Formats: sequence, structure tokens, C-alpha cells
Amino acid sequence: MKNIATWFFVTGASFALIGMAWGIQMSATQNHTLSPAHGHLNLIGFVAMSVFGTYYALTPQAAASRLAKIHFALTVAAVVILVPGIAMAISGSGESLAKGGSVLAVLAMALFVYTAARNGVGQAERAALAPGKIHMEPAE
Ligand code: HEM
Repeated sequence: MKNIATWFFVTGASFALIGMAWGIQMSATQNHTLSPAHGHLNLIGFVAMSVFGTYYALTPQAAASRLAKIHFALTVAAVVILVPGIAMAISGSGESLAKGGSVLAVLAMALFVYTAARNGVGQAERAALAPGKIHMEPAE
């Protein structure tokens, strides 16, 4: 398996392609009814996932943990459930899916708070959090 940062970026950019095609379809038909669902697909599916991918690329000790894979699965599940859920809620077909997707989105973000607080950001941060465990060369 490629590293988790790659998974976040490739999946997030794929969500963006779908979100952009949806945006073009909304513009072409002049029907913007589902624009909040389109917005959430792009913002959680692309922007948040790219932020997460950047974090894991900068912080290999976090990327190597099992929690990173759980974080990825939770985020993808949140997008895949929340976006159709918002479309259904707008169309008057029920709010259950939107509620379930919202809970997954919050859990994914809470897991990110925990991961960032535990590992810090970047290798240098980890060294500062655990002095003596990682040998740092003195600056020239
Ligand atoms: C090909 C690219 C895109 C097209 C053609 C497009 C098109 C649209 C259209 C037609 C609307 C409805 C505007 C309105 O009713 O006032 C909209 C709303 C929105 N779009 Fe896009 N969009 C694109 C890409 C993106 C991207 C990349 C993002 C975020 C990263 C994004 C975020 C949003 C948001 C937040 C809204 C407002 C949602 C709401 O009304 O609640 N869009 N877009």
C-alpha cells in the first residue's frame, strides 16, 4: 500500500473531480438546489482531505500509525455518506443519512485533533516532544 498521505491526496483529488463535474452540471442546468451537497463534497472531500494528507506527509510517525488508516477510512465514509445525505435532506427524502454522515465527519476531525496533539507536526516537533529519543544534529 502506498503511504497514507498519497491515499488522502489521490482520493481527495478524485472527490474534487466529481465535485467539479457536479458544479459544471449545476451551472449548465441553472439548477443550484443541491449546491450545499456539492460544497461539502469539495470542502470535506478535497480541502480537508488535502490538509490531512499534507499533515501526514510532514509527520511520518503519525502516518505510520494504525490510527492514520482509521482516520482515512472514517473521512472517506463521512464524505460518501454525508454528501448524498445532504442531497436527500434538501430533496425532502429524509435526514437520517445526513445525520449519520455528520457524526462520522465529527469523529474523523476529533481523531485528527488527537493525532496532531499526540504526534505534533513534523519530525522536529516529535524530537522536541521526546528529547533524547531522536538524535538531532546541532545546527551549523
Ligand atoms: C468546476 C469547478 C466548479 C464549478 C463549476 C462549481 C459550481 C458551483 C455552483 C454553480 C454553485 C452554486 C452557486 C449558487 O447557487 O449561488 C456552487 C456552490 C458552491 N461551491 Fe462550487 N463549483 C466548482 C468547484 C468548487 C470547489 C473546488 C469548491 C471548494 C473547494 C466549491 C465549493 C462550493 C461551495 C462552498 C458552494 C456553496 C454551497 C452552498 O450554497 O451551500 N466549488 N459551485
